[in-house]
Amino acid sequence: MPRAASAQDIPVAHRVSTFSYAIRNIVAEAQRVESTGTRVRYLNVGDPNAFGFKTPPHLIAAVERAMRDGHNGYGPSAGITAAREAVATELTSHGFPISADRALITAGTSEAIELVLTALVDGGGEVLVPMPTYPLYTAVLAKIDARAKFYRTDPSRGWQPDLDHLKSLVTPATRALVVIDPNNPTGATYPTSTRRELLEFAERHNLVVLADEVYGDLGHDGPIDPIGKLDPDAAIITFSSMSKAYLAPGWRTGWMGVGRTPRLDPALAAIKKMADGRLCGTVPMQFAVAEALLGDRSHQPIFRAELKKRADVTARSLNAMPGMTCVAPIAGFYVMPQVALPPGRTDEEYVLGLLRATGVLCVYGSGFGMPKEGGFFRIVFLAPPDELHEIYGLMGDFTRTFLSNG
Ligand SMILES: Cc1ncc(COP(=O)(O)O)c(C=O)c1O
Repeated sequence: MPRAASAQDIPVAHRVSTFSYAIRNIVAEAQRVESTGTRVRYLNVGDPNAFGFKTPPHLIAAVERAMRDGHNGYGPSAGITAAREAVATELTSHGFPISADRALITAGTSEAIELVLTALVDGGGEVLVPMPTYPLYTAVLAKIDARAKFYRTDPSRGWQPDLDHLKSLVTPATRALVVIDPNNPTGATYPTSTRRELLEFAERHNLVVLADEVYGDLGHDGPIDPIGKLDPDAAIITFSSMSKAYLAPGWRTGWMGVGRTPRLDPALAAIKKMADGRLCGTVPMQFAVAEALLGDRSHQPIFRAELKKRADVTARSLNAMPGMTCVAPIAGFYVMPQVALPPGRTDEEYVLGLLRATGVLCVYGSGFGMPKEGGFFRIVFLAPPDELHEIYGLMGDFTRTFLSNG
């Protein structure tokens, strides 16, 4: 067909320019570095399977069985009953009792978060999000034309939330408080007193607490309770998935539990309505949820012990580097160290310089909402301890040169 002379690029939506996802955006540069023959160590994505951790075989068997048994069609939008019941049982046994009709199965926690924010926050609405944040929150809020308001968490206090700062951010447009505990990217968990203050604050302002508890089973010294245990009648929606503690991120299978308070009934109905619109989550994988939550979890203490070893190597190595400090992570597999940048330099320059000089790929802190000049960056420390030693050796050498060159 002949092209009209007036043909131009098809325009894209304005929201794309406000949407960014540093964890993946940085991969283009890593691939360029790789194409020059440098080995790249991908410490940007928190995928345990990429570092040799294996999905437990009984979970794979459950999915295989489901496929062979013909569960390959669409499922109920809220998820299959067995999976929803298992989520309810799991949350109830951890002190946050809900019934199965308040559990929904989703394509990972990511979809659960997107469904909830879409159902509860209008364009122009505001959501309180920790800084640093897991960038999904800002990405989804950009998609729905809503705003993230960042409350500081403080590295000098073990990355605990700055409650005074949080309180100063509430406006009549505020709709929700996101609490990521255990935290990505900082590796922190919050003490009971802090959790209580967060809940009281949310209650005072009629905010729903979005409790991102994806790493709840990955406290290095044992599972961490859901925040909802402190007040099962609070307006809390909790999220988790098969991705981290069950070593199956590619299955895109997660869930949410909507607190039992009737104050959340309209929210539950709205979320279910939105969920209808995307038909259902991945069906065969849902058959592994009950196996995961109610069955053999013997892989978890082993995984936790492996994480603790890696966290120790990480904190020791980083804190021994001149110009580098880090808060030792106590859960999950991330750490957010800080390098004392020379004036005028940015976290992105440091991270890109490190990548180009050594092949070590981390993510700059500004990708998590931190100030560019702060010198923060995130490391995924899932590599085996020997490799971590090697990586931190490369990082130490690079950092020395970077800092001495100003
Ligand atoms: C804090 C946090 N929330 C949510 C997610 C998304 O996980 P899922 O694979 O369940 O979508 C991640 C993944 O890294 C995460 O770190």
